[in-house]
Amino acid sequence: MAVRVVVGTQWGDEGKGKYIDMLADQSDIIVRYSGGNNAGHTIVANGAKYALHLIPSGILHTDKTCIIGNGVVVDPAVLLKEMAGLNERGITTDHLLISDRAHLIMPYHIGLDELQENFRGNNSIGTTKRGIGPCYADKIERSGIRMCDLIDKDEFVKKVKANLELKNLIIERVYGGKPYKAESIIEEYSEYADKLRKYVTDTTSILAEAIDEGKNILFEGAQANFLDIDFGTYPFVTSSNPISGGVCTGSGLGPIYIDEVYGVLKAYTSRVGAGPFPTEQNNEVGDAIRELGWEYGTTTGRPRRCGWLDTVMIKYAAKINGLTALAINHVDTIGKLKEIKLCTGYKYNGQTIRYFPASLNELAKCEPVYETFEPWDEDITNIKSFDKLPENARKYLNRIEELVGVKIKFIGVGKDRENVIVR
Ligand code: GDP
Ligand code: IMO
Ligand code: MG
Repeated sequence: MAVRVVVGTQWGDEGKGKYIDMLADQSDIIVRYSGGNNAGHTIVANGAKYALHLIPSGILHTDKTCIIGNGVVVDPAVLLKEMAGLNERGITTDHLLISDRAHLIMPYHIGLDELQENFRGNNSIGTTKRGIGPCYADKIERSGIRMCDLIDKDEFVKKVKANLELKNLIIERVYGGKPYKAESIIEEYSEYADKLRKYVTDTTSILAEAIDEGKNILFEGAQANFLDIDFGTYPFVTSSNPISGGVCTGSGLGPIYIDEVYGVLKAYTSRVGAGPFPTEQNNEVGDAIRELGWEYGTTTGRPRRCGWLDTVMIKYAAKINGLTALAINHVDTIGKLKEIKLCTGYKYNGQTIRYFPASLNELAKCEPVYETFEPWDEDITNIKSFDKLPENARKYLNRIEELVGVKIKFIGVGKDRENVIVR
């Protein structure tokens, strides 16, 4: 039996989807435990490309069970559309299960996300405007509506009406927005309920049984350490706990069952949306990384901000997530630059520090300290062993391992699930 977790160690889009798809092969159950359709996971399998937002990336393996855990916020319209998209491509979704405790993204959450972002003006977070923050806010505030309510019509009607009483006041009187009509939401969501009912269940018992039967479980992280509500660059974060600790609260499985935690990173850094980014290269280097790595959002299509790999961040993420191994992607991409820089620490008030500050003011005063590496401008996409990589690539990877203190187990040298070196 193995219980493994795949998490992002930067600001998302590290290429988690590729590893989840790859590791799903050796798993019986694949579980999403946090976030919602703010995520965008790209999978390239045998040349075919899939972009998944809400459905676990393990879905392409139709003989496995895929679970959307209680920690996920579910927009049923998006879920059904994503299911239909897969079905049209010949991939069944009969092996999907949804936790009855997962919270629902409602139309007013999406509306409020937009209104709040506009209200923040220059201080906006740059959210994906999918209603994620407002939905989690309702969950914590105890007014949320869950999957178990969706499939119980009377309860659903009661909860929608109760929610709209206050939500419409806020929308109209605070933000000057347009109120929502209970009837049209109820009608729309009744249809979703009919279509989703058969997938909704108590997924914690399924996980408990799987543990007792010694099955292999894979937890699929969305977002990443630095988007975490507690350990990210707050407030420029998402509203959930994507770190490995979120596995327990977002699925209902105790921490003693987790065997491995794989931290995914890119050989550089990218970020979508606003917020600090110490090693950002808002210049021709960043532009070159964006074009070489095709750094455009899977969810919103926004160009991603790009910069050098920051080992202060990865070292911090290593302890927070309890990383047992690293998976580094885009080693093919970074090798094409003229020279490569690696951040080994920050200069703060004349001192070199190796911790990641909580205060954004302190972070803004941190100057990255770099080491420079030679590139390896050759095609490495079909290389299958570490020893066959160009010497300059090995030097770069060895130094990352040394600075972070965690072994690199997987090396991504191309988009396809085949383009991975396993050590
Ligand atoms: P996720 O959200 O962490 O699953 O990552 P995304 O799918 O949003 O973004 C990762 C992008 O990098 C996708 O376009 C992947 O196809 C691509 N990718 C992943 N690994 C590699 C790699 O090793 N090399 C290259 N060139 N592209 C990669
Ligand atoms: P994956 O799983 C990159 C970012 C948004 C914004 C902030 C808050 O593909 O790695 P939200 O809509 O969650 O309230 O937005 O978080 N963000 C992501 N950035 N990858 C993601 O997911 C992200 N999910 C949220 O851009 O800055
Ligand atoms: Mg992504």
